[in-house]
Amino acid sequence: MEPEFWHERWSQQQTHFHQPDGHPMLNKWWPTLELGTDAHVLVPLCGKTPDMRTLAERGHRVTGIELSPIAAQDFFIEQHLAVDSDEIGGFDRYRAECGAGTIEILVGDFFTADTETLGAFQAFYDRAALIALPQTMRARYVEHLCTLLTKDAPGLLITLDYDQSQMNGPPFAVDTAEVNTLFEHRGEVASLESGSRLGGQDMLAQRGVKSADEYVFRITATD
Ligand SMILES: C[S@@+](CC[C@H](N)C(=O)[O-])C[C@H]1O[C@@H](n2cnc3c(N)ncnc32)[C@H](O)[C@@H]1O
Repeated sequence: MEPEFWHERWSQQQTHFHQPDGHPMLNKWWPTLELGTDAHVLVPLCGKTPDMRTLAERGHRVTGIELSPIAAQDFFIEQHLAVDSDEIGGFDRYRAECGAGTIEILVGDFFTADTETLGAFQAFYDRAALIALPQTMRARYVEHLCTLLTKDAPGLLITLDYDQSQMNGPPFAVDTAEVNTLFEHRGEVASLESGSRLGGQDMLAQRGVKSADEYVFRITATD
């Protein structure tokens, strides 16, 4: 998708992907990554997810990367966090203390982030980032994500699968085989949980999707 697509979504408040209460499976599975409390966690394509708060309250240093300044500003307002801002490596950075940790959102294009400026991250959390991208961009996304991580950084990945002929993405359908293909070079891809994503009011159902399943994966780096 072009950046304009997402800027338009945010300015029109067409953000049905946003979960105001955060993702129900995050707290269940995050501890299985066995991270140090102060680990530096990357949340690519973060939107304004309160999952960043959940991670910071665990003590982590959380860095979200997001195209939309509206998303970043809304996040700190909605979470009632006092925010500082500056600039780093071409990104506008918004930053706040939160619980035992910190949250910063870098506003700009994920694909321009680099470790020279940001340092390497010790874990990642991807909910609705990979599936926000069309198939032609997904390998590049994973490749770039891996350049931002330490060698042994694990991650939690939450994806969606449905019959792509029933709806145009985003969100795009990404099946387990594709997740394995995209991440197997990094190490172990463990499928932790899956379940139906369709409720009566669900936007996917309204767009013609008859059934959809959400998957939680743990990506563990091995040498
Ligand atoms: C489907 S939303 C998911 C947001 C968030 N992960 C969540 O769970 O609510 C995808 C987000 O990625 C952002 N985005 C898309 N392309 C991006 C890029 N190249 N760099 C940074 N953010 C991007 C969009 O603005 C949008 O907020």
